[in-house]
Amino acid sequence: MARMALVTGGTRGIGSEISRALQKAGRTVVASYLGNDQAAEQFLQETGIRTYKFDASKFDECQEGVRKIKEEVGAIEILVNNAGITRDSTLQKMDRDMWDAVMDTNLGSCFNLCKLLFPEMREKHFGRIVNIGSVNGQAGQYGQVNYAAAKSGIHGFTKALAQEGARFGITVNAVAPGYVDTDMVRSVPPDVLQKIIARIPVGRLGTPEDIARGVVFLTADESTFITGSTLSINGGQHMY
Ligand code: CAA
Repeated sequence: MARMALVTGGTRGIGSEISRALQKAGRTVVASYLGNDQAAEQFLQETGIRTYKFDASKFDECQEGVRKIKEEVGAIEILVNNAGITRDSTLQKMDRDMWDAVMDTNLGSCFNLCKLLFPEMREKHFGRIVNIGSVNGQAGQYGQVNYAAAKSGIHGFTKALAQEGARFGITVNAVAPGYVDTDMVRSVPPDVLQKIIARIPVGRLGTPEDIARGVVFLTADESTFITGSTLSINGGQHMY
């Protein structure tokens, strides 16, 4: 039977392409989303992938979402923590709400869904978790103390949980995308974005497909010996 995958924020942007690529790889995919009903409906029409509306930053909503998915589709064996937002601003102008929103959505959601899905993965002795980090969590970025801290947190979270999952056949890895051509990156002021692109050795923004390939690789049944790693997919923007 096809393994079940959940992609959070899986109906738009990078998440949408991850959902599609996992489906193409033979997985049964469900995608969660929060706000954009129209995009979710279009995604469902195009892919046939079931969508679930819940706020990944809220533990009780995740609990209810996971319960529904299990009842309607089955147990989740592959989790892609992709849901993410930006609230860019210099620290000078950033208020506490902008900090909390980014921490809760980008990092808190990883805790929520891993906490809910880990016990069953342990019991079954199989699990694949991929957390979507960012080049800006690795290198930092002007105007993103909240986002860089949350994404950097994802990389630490990944390495810690990988150690807890290893005995139970659960791998936990991160993908760190660079600047990818999505709505999120298109909202960066054009002059700032041009300067960033000029620093990407490959000379272009990434595509959602560039990122999805990495997720398919890390979640393959055969990828049993890759855990606690970060796969950077950034066109050479940051090498370390
Ligand atoms: N380094 C040093 N100084 C910088 C700087 C930088 N990178 N960027 C801007 N500054 C300076 C400016 O020159 C300016 O200085 P002066 O006042 O002396 O001229 C000062 O900082 C203020 O800059 P802005 O006018 O740009 O300030 P702002 O408040 O209007 O905007 C900002 C600040 C919100 C951070 C804006 O510059 C911005 O949006 N930057 C892009 C941030 C970014 O890259 N976000 C990534 C989003 S995509 C993503 O996150 C996906 C992913 O994972 C990669």
